Amino acid sequence: MIAEPEFVHWKLKRDEDGVAWATLDRAGESTNALSAAVMVELTRLLDHLDAKPPRGLIFRSGKAAGFIAGADIHEFDDLVTPENGLRLVARGWDLFNRVAALPYPTLALIRGHCMGGGLELSLACRYRIVVDHPDTRLGLPEVKLGIVPAWGGMRRLPQRIGAIAALDMMLTGKTVDARKAWRLGLAEACVPPRLMERAARLRVLDPTPPHVLGLWQRLLNGPLRALVVRQARRRLAQKVSVEHYPAPYVLLDLWQHHDGNALDAPEVLHRILASPTARNLLRVFHLQERLKRFGKGSTFKPERVHVVGAGVMGGDIAAWCVAKGLTVTLQDQSLERILPALTRAEALFARLLKTPQACRAARDRLIPDPAGAGVAHADVVIEAVFENLSVKQQILTALEPRLKSTALLASNTSSLRLEDIAMGLRMPKRLVGIHFFNPVALMPLVEVVEIEGAAPEALQAAAAFVGALGKLPLPVRSAPGFLVNAVLAPYMQEALRCLDQGIAPSTLDAALESFGMPMGPVELMDTVGLDIVMAAGQQLSAGAPAACLIQCLDQGHLGKKAGHGFYVWVKGKPVKPAFGAVPQGLAERLIKPLTERAAALVAEGVVADADLADAGVIFGTGFAPFSGGPLHRTSNPGSS
Ligand code: NAI
Repeated sequence: MIAEPEFVHWKLKRDEDGVAWATLDRAGESTNALSAAVMVELTRLLDHLDAKPPRGLIFRSGKAAGFIAGADIHEFDDLVTPENGLRLVARGWDLFNRVAALPYPTLALIRGHCMGGGLELSLACRYRIVVDHPDTRLGLPEVKLGIVPAWGGMRRLPQRIGAIAALDMMLTGKTVDARKAWRLGLAEACVPPRLMERAARLRVLDPTPPHVLGLWQRLLNGPLRALVVRQARRRLAQKVSVEHYPAPYVLLDLWQHHDGNALDAPEVLHRILASPTARNLLRVFHLQERLKRFGKGSTFKPERVHVVGAGVMGGDIAAWCVAKGLTVTLQDQSLERILPALTRAEALFARLLKTPQACRAARDRLIPDPAGAGVAHADVVIEAVFENLSVKQQILTALEPRLKSTALLASNTSSLRLEDIAMGLRMPKRLVGIHFFNPVALMPLVEVVEIEGAAPEALQAAAAFVGALGKLPLPVRSAPGFLVNAVLAPYMQEALRCLDQGIAPSTLDAALESFGMPMGPVELMDTVGLDIVMAAGQQLSAGAPAACLIQCLDQGHLGKKAGHGFYVWVKGKPVKPAFGAVPQGLAERLIKPLTERAAALVAEGVVADADLADAGVIFGTGFAPFSGGPLHRTSNPGSS
């Protein structure tokens, strides 16, 4: 290799074949992002190559974490003025157009994450090679931040993989793995890690014409574009409203009328960049990063987990831990009680793990253990048996003497006092609450519950364990309902009061769904189970139970699990009768007690501050993310 000029973030080398290798290794960061400084240096790098063009140019990453995570999100805070927004868009649009116009072959060698601006840079190259590795993921998730892929992604992704697949990726923000990227035509080749450099070099030295879309796809990108957009808009409207989430709608307009060039429509661009939605989604992103940080920086690296109780929660927690690479022993009163959990685990593995080998390996890591032999080897022991104090106490006291000295001991209780559960332990301060939500696979949040006088290292280990499972740990103090169930209780009580006053369930659900909740409160109560709603209500709310709830329970209408609750359930879906006009202020009537309870929990120190409370409510209940969270929207009226 011949040395080239020095840069701060890039390393440029030319090999003996005359191929230039531009390696992005952003200084002082573990992940590559396309900050202003990185882009300025890329311009200088291209200027330098202009003077003596290479035979080809290969972009790759110097980070183990991945290729490029996207633009530098910390620079988005300046986007609220039109000038800054336009400047940021022009920076990437112009530079990547320059890459696309280079006279020599260019290639992006993609291993690990390749998101947003990183994929837009790759799309500007003549070729892309993806590395077949579990961490490789490609996507344009800008709409999740309330913005659009304006550095060429909106134009080039449809050209590369066709309009339908491209819009599906861009409108949902979903990502694809290496093999899918290759199958879609997003990459020319998918190669194992050991061959990646060789494959990249050969491709630029022997440049075959890039893949061209078939006639039908070209029609959809061309004369039939309006039709494609109409259908996409109809599907989009079924999922999100333009008032709450304008970015995907703007994306469709920009692609249809400006071929993805946002600089052609600066007023539209500014409208979304400066929108409350974009600011609030950015806030939610930062909150998510804050939660992730609780799970980082600990030396605790669990490998073996023992779960006691193979019911709804214990079984699914065990399966999730296995899917994330851990080895799990699963204990219950008998093998028969463990078997249903193993069947459910199979379905999870089939969904999450890509290959039959990975599924087989996962199956081997999930060990039924009715005798509890795994306790002595486990780094984490989680109790998830019936919600019964004396059963939990007995189990924990029997477990304690068999634990490794470094093992983390946790309970998944949702309503019992951890201090009571820990009563019989020799070292009660060792116990931590690790409160997963149901369904485990879908819920991103896990509350890490601090018992009074808890050992700090136990709390750190619990947060690290949750982080290692790819979940978001939220530290909370031990108090009834912790944060999430505690704020949901008054919300549900208010919903029950509305039902008692004669408001139809479907009217109530429609009001809250149009507010932005993922599911209306009545459907939520039916899903949770009306017996559980009753128990939670008695524990977490004052006052007599609602008449409508007593009536349902008297009739055995327990909700979704019984096929009948406030709704009749058919094939796992509620049958909702048509509803009339939604009374004004109905949604706010339910949101108010939720917000007040969240504020009270902050004041009581159950959760450390208002931002964390918002994060917990958003990731634990799905509370309208575009609003920035219940406390944020209350203290910033007009922000959503
Ligand atoms: P479940 O009733 O589905 O399962 C409990 C399991 O514990 C049963 O399989 C039972 O055989 C087993 N068990 C009871 N005594 C045992 C013993 N001595 N040794 C071994 N296994 C024993 O209960 P679920 O819903 O999974 O709840 C478990 C825990 O998780 C409870 O503390 C609950 O509060 C909590 N939780 C439940 C949520 C839910 O939505 N179901 C959500 C979050 C937490």
